[in-house]
Amino acid sequence: MALKIGVFIGSLSAVSINRKLANALTRLAPEGVELVEIPIAGLPLYNHDLDADYPQVARDFKQAIAEADALLYVTPEYNRSIPGALKNAIDWASRPWGQNSLGKPSATIGASPGPISTAVAQQHLKDILLFSDAPVLGQPEGYIQFTEGLITDDGEVTNDGTAEFLRNWITAFASFAEKQLG
Ligand code: FNR
Repeated sequence: MALKIGVFIGSLSAVSINRKLANALTRLAPEGVELVEIPIAGLPLYNHDLDADYPQVARDFKQAIAEADALLYVTPEYNRSIPGALKNAIDWASRPWGQNSLGKPSATIGASPGPISTAVAQQHLKDILLFSDAPVLGQPEGYIQFTEGLITDDGEVTNDGTAEFLRNWITAFASFAEKQLG
């Protein structure tokens, strides 16, 4: 398997539990599957007045997406939806009109301290991705209820069951992406 997965992390926080989750998935990915973050923090607010002359930061962002075979969204839930920073990044990626970058095999996963984790945000996100012409992984779903110390900053998972779940999850997404890519 040789697959490059671009990773969007929906949180801008320096202590993000979703960044820890992304780090864990990077460590647990099967051989040949590379996870590379596509940063979203430097993007200005999207404005369609700029479509005729995208700023360099947005061109670089779209180029990074172009270099990925598949896209992984690791996101918190904010007020039962996705964070504004992630929606902003998606809006940039979807334009200029006719140049949508998002139509690649995609999957969503997220962590929250809450018992239903990020289920509602991920459902919203899947709607957006389907509209964006992305084939989206249906099963297995990935809703991680984060407890203190579950994943270290550099992505070591301290609970064996969670580590096994995440290893199986990223392996399933890689297989899904490979099938979609033919
Ligand atoms: C939250 N949080 C939250 N959690 C949840 O499960 N459902 C929700 O709707 C919300 N809403 C929400 C809104 C805002 C503005 C904040 C700041 C937080 C709590 C959230 O899950 C928690 O802060 C996580 O730690 C956020 O993820 P990161 O940033 O640590 O990756």
